[in-house]
Amino acid sequence: MDKLLVFVAFIISLSFVHCAPYECISNSTDEFEDSYVGLLISPVLSTETYREIEIYWNHAKYRVGDEIGLYTEKPRDDLEPIFIIHPDSQSGIVKTGIQADFIPTSNLTFTKQCLKYHVAWLRTGMVRKENCLKTQPTWMSDMKNILGRRRMRDLFLPGTHDSSAYAKTNFILPETLVTKYVITQDEDVLGQLIYGARYLDIRVGYYATEAIQWWGSHGLVAVVPFQTVIDDVKTFLNNTDEIVIFDVQEFPVGFGQDFTIHRKLVAYLEEQFADYIIPKSFGWSSTLDTIWSSGKKLIIGYDDHNVVGMFDSLWPSVTQQWGNVQKVDDLYDYLNKIETNALSIISSSKVNPRSAMAELTPKAWDIFLDRLGGLRKMAEDVDAKITMWYNTKWQHSANIVAVDFIKATGIVETALEWNERRFNSC
Ligand SMILES: *[C@@H]1O[C@H](CO)[C@@H](O)[C@H](O)[C@H]1NC(C)=O
Ligand SMILES: *[C@@H]1O[C@H](CO)[C@@H](O)[C@H](O)[C@H]1NC(C)=O
Ligand SMILES: *[C@@H]1O[C@H](CO)[C@@H](O)[C@H](O)[C@H]1NC(C)=O
Repeated sequence: MDKLLVFVAFIISLSFVHCAPYECISNSTDEFEDSYVGLLISPVLSTETYREIEIYWNHAKYRVGDEIGLYTEKPRDDLEPIFIIHPDSQSGIVKTGIQADFIPTSNLTFTKQCLKYHVAWLRTGMVRKENCLKTQPTWMSDMKNILGRRRMRDLFLPGTHDSSAYAKTNFILPETLVTKYVITQDEDVLGQLIYGARYLDIRVGYYATEAIQWWGSHGLVAVVPFQTVIDDVKTFLNNTDEIVIFDVQEFPVGFGQDFTIHRKLVAYLEEQFADYIIPKSFGWSSTLDTIWSSGKKLIIGYDDHNVVGMFDSLWPSVTQQWGNVQKVDDLYDYLNKIETNALSIISSSKVNPRSAMAELTPKAWDIFLDRLGGLRKMAEDVDAKITMWYNTKWQHSANIVAVDFIKATGIVETALEWNERRFNSC
């Protein structure tokens, strides 16, 4: 096939709702091949704007006169964009002032889909590269033929930080000091999984005397009944062939000194997830194919090694890597350090996955004085950069990358693209 045709076929395969499984990237010399252009949803909430659409790009061979257009349907050369920018640097991110529709989770499907907004790179008025705001409910099983022989540790996996601390609503709720520093996601857990996350960072609170005893928590704040989180995971597993890591990382309220409440929680998890749990005997050195062959798709990590020792249902937790920093530059330095280290470790010697926690961490006084403007503002500062960093610097080392407000990052697209490049040996 001619190179242009291969390129066109590649673009079509990317943009069609029912995509073919991932195929080999052609050995094309097309200068658009290493470029990217995509859409993000800003997490910032104010009386003037929310869910604002942002366009991000990276194109080493951009030319003066190139344009990037935003569309509400699949871009064509003869379609007028609703918003247009003239990129004047190799990479960037631009706010459009356009508010994305609220999409209830019940409107999302278990088939990859574009959600109304599309973006295209135009050169001399012609569409050369395009993308859309999309879901990725089946990416792992779509790439089965190239990922099946790998371990979780080898993959680039998108994850969410504090997955159950979400607020998904179509209304602008006035932010309080509490919500400002508690809410880390604007999709519920099912939405996060449908958008592409496969690693969930779970914190559980136990309230012995309340009608609802188990809560998904952030610190001392109970955010969502834990049963809702569990049901979302089951719904997702019922409808896809994806493998999910449910990593119980913190026990902020009600666990006491002995193991009584831990046993209670594990009994609850085992009862709820009986049909889904992959036993620990498989272990982190299993390949995805081995896990798929078990017929089960849920790995429960648990960050208490005594408790892990007591139950076959619990795996040692993922190693979370925290910079505990308050500035974007410091986060860069920290992530650069851990990703550089990861490259130098012989990969077969490490089996447990690790998660780069790609967010800033406020200190107590930052919260009391509201010095950092809240987690949404902090995430906006970080999220766009995360995408660029993991696309251009740490794409070869990345394992799990857990983010706040997943749609404000391009981490899912980045992970999928680099998994393909990492393992596609044709
Ligand atoms: C890809 O193209 C380059 C430059 O045209 C060539 O040197 C290289 O051998 C090609 N690689 C493959 C795998 O065909
Ligand atoms: C969600 O689905 C309902 C029922 O199919 C439809 O009426 C509505 O327009 C959809 N909303 C969005 C934002 O897509
Ligand atoms: C998942 O599937 C099982 C078996 O078909 C069914 O009993 C259960 O109700 C489903 N759960 C959810 C949350 O969809």
